[in-house]
Amino acid sequence: MSDWKRNRLTERLNLNVPIIQAPMAGASTPAMATAVSRGGGLGSLGAGKQPSDKTRVDCQTIRAETNGAYNLNFFAHEEPEVDLARSESMREQIKPYFEEFGLEDVPRAEATYEPFNEDHLAAVLDMMPPVVSFHYGLPRADLFKAVKAAGLFTISSATNLREAKELEVGGIDAIIAQGYEAGGHRGTFAEPYEDGYLGTMALVPQIVDAVSVPVIAAGGIMDGRGIAAALALGAEAVQMGTAFLCTSESMIAEVYRDILLESDANETRLTHAFSGRPARGIENRYIREMRGSEDRLPSFPIPDTLLRPLQIASAEAGSGDFVSLWAGQGLGMSRTMAAGELLEKLTAETDEVLGRLG
Ligand SMILES: Cc1cc2nc3c(=O)[nH]c(=O)nc-3n(C[C@H](O)[C@H](O)[C@H](O)COP(=O)(O)O)c2cc1C
Repeated sequence: MSDWKRNRLTERLNLNVPIIQAPMAGASTPAMATAVSRGGGLGSLGAGKQPSDKTRVDCQTIRAETNGAYNLNFFAHEEPEVDLARSESMREQIKPYFEEFGLEDVPRAEATYEPFNEDHLAAVLDMMPPVVSFHYGLPRADLFKAVKAAGLFTISSATNLREAKELEVGGIDAIIAQGYEAGGHRGTFAEPYEDGYLGTMALVPQIVDAVSVPVIAAGGIMDGRGIAAALALGAEAVQMGTAFLCTSESMIAEVYRDILLESDANETRLTHAFSGRPARGIENRYIREMRGSEDRLPSFPIPDTLLRPLQIASAEAGSGDFVSLWAGQGLGMSRTMAAGELLEKLTAETDEVLGRLG
């Protein structure tokens, strides 16, 4: 299988290898995306939580260093209604944690980041990233149409077959099949969320059979063995998040990195407690103590707003107790090296595995 690097997706995006570094709001950086794009993979920036001014600067930083393709990622969740009763109840519940760190008031309930909007679109049209990806479905139809009309390649995540078909009908150019093993937020956009709890091994081939656009496998892929397996299942690329968390270009807090490197595969959990939507991370005190309260929290992303100062204070104090330690089930295979070096290693490993299998 010597031509594993050539397919519709790599041809269309001019990639040397079908490896996508996942967009990770709070972890991926322009330096990480640059290193991966320079190496011939697809580097990504998680722009879902940041102001558009910052996104513009980040895109310029990447473009100054490489002409390779890169991906700008946004959220496409539904705008929340601020439920005051639920928000006040959560504020009361987390107040003692704030006091432990000597913090003043818990922030007021508001959504500090919005789904893909006109402002995001303006930044996209100015910066023209070759790829625009969305998490939590598709954005508003008129905005999506404008991205497509600009000739940009679009990607979004599906966690079951229904979502994959919906994305294809909606006009998406490629679909990420995000398995249950994946670190971070599930891209699930059709409720109930539990309908999207399928493992990568089962999910990828069934989505490949159900749609005609290229499928990208994500969730638990950490090395050449995982990449070869995903390609065997019919994926035309892999999207890897956790594998890049401990690279030198990652911006995760030191305590997060330390815990990640010490943890085992059985220590991750799905939790709604940090944001109001299901996400996989390493179990810590906050996840444990919020268990049982998760159904009473305000809607995504309000819990994230309420917790922000606590997360920062916890990380600064060197405690992982209140930090969202997002990681996938493959975390035990994490490696510490530069992102470009990791990409080279992944490519060599995949060559080796596929060569061995013949
Ligand atoms: C720390 C972290 C942050 C993430 N943030 C985003 C994000 O902002 N946007 C997005 O589309 N996916 C995000 N994801 C999910 C990834 O795109 C991808 O689905 C996942 O990392 C694949 O599973 P793996 O971590 O086992 O490789 C994040 C994942 C992690 C680990």
